[in-house]
Amino acid sequence: MKLVLGISGASGAPYAKRFLTHVRAMHAAADLSVEIVLSRTAEQVWAHECGGSPRDLDFPVYDGRDYAAPFASGSAAYDAMLIMPASMSCIARIANGISDDLLTRAADVMLKERRRLVVVPREAPYSSIHLENMLALTRASAIVLPASPSFYGRPASLEDAMDTVLARVLDHLGLRNALAKRWGQDVVLDDSAGRGGKRES
Ligand SMILES: Cc1cc2nc3c(=O)[nH]c(=O)nc-3n(C[C@H](O)[C@H](O)[C@H](O)COP(=O)(O)O)c2cc1C
Repeated sequence: MKLVLGISGASGAPYAKRFLTHVRAMHAAADLSVEIVLSRTAEQVWAHECGGSPRDLDFPVYDGRDYAAPFASGSAAYDAMLIMPASMSCIARIANGISDDLLTRAADVMLKERRRLVVVPREAPYSSIHLENMLALTRASAIVLPASPSFYGRPASLEDAMDTVLARVLDHLGLRNALAKRWGQDVVLDDSAGRGGKRES
C-alpha cells in the first residue's frame, strides 16, 4: 500500500508521531510505504507538542509547495491518504476544492480519483462552519474519524488511549492491527456495577 500522511497545523501531532512508530513496525509485513506532506503550520505545532520535527523520523517528507511530489497527481496511483491531525483550516479548504498547498491538492486528488481519504479533525467545540465542512467531506466519500479515544477497553496510559484512535484509523485504511481491544472479543460489558451504578461486594 502506498499511503500519504498529511500533517496539518491542528493540535494532535503526537497522534501522527505514534502512528509513524506503528507504521515502521508493520512496514515489512504490510508492504506499506508512507510519505509525509506538511502544512505550513505543522512543524511549528509538532515542535511545540512533540519536540523536534517530523523530518527526524526518516520518512520522505514534502513541503507545501513541492508540487513535484508524485501524489500531487492522480496518475501516481497512491492507495490512500490520512490527514492527522486535520486543522479546521485545511478541512475547509479541501471541502471547498481549494488546493492551495500540496496537502490540500493531494486530498483533492484522492477525492477526485475516488480513493480512500481518512481525516482526523481536532478542534473543540465545532462551529456550524466546521460541521458543514466535515459533512461536505463525508458526502465526497472521505471518512471523518475524530480523535475521540474510547474508554471501554480501560486504557492504562495516554499512549493506550491514543491507540484506541489509531486502531480505528488503521482499520479504515484497511490495515489489520491489534492496537486496541475490540468490543465483544477482547472486552465485554462489565455490568457488575449493577443497576443504579452501585457495585456489589
Ligand atoms: C499550538 C497550536 C495548536 C493549534 N491547534 C489547532 C487545533 O486543534 N485545531 C485547529 O483547527 N487549528 C489549530 N491551530 C491553528 C492552526 O494551526 C491555524 O489555523 C493554521 O492556519 C492551520 O493551517 P494549516 O493546517 O494549513 O497549517 C493551532 C495552532 C497552534 C500554533
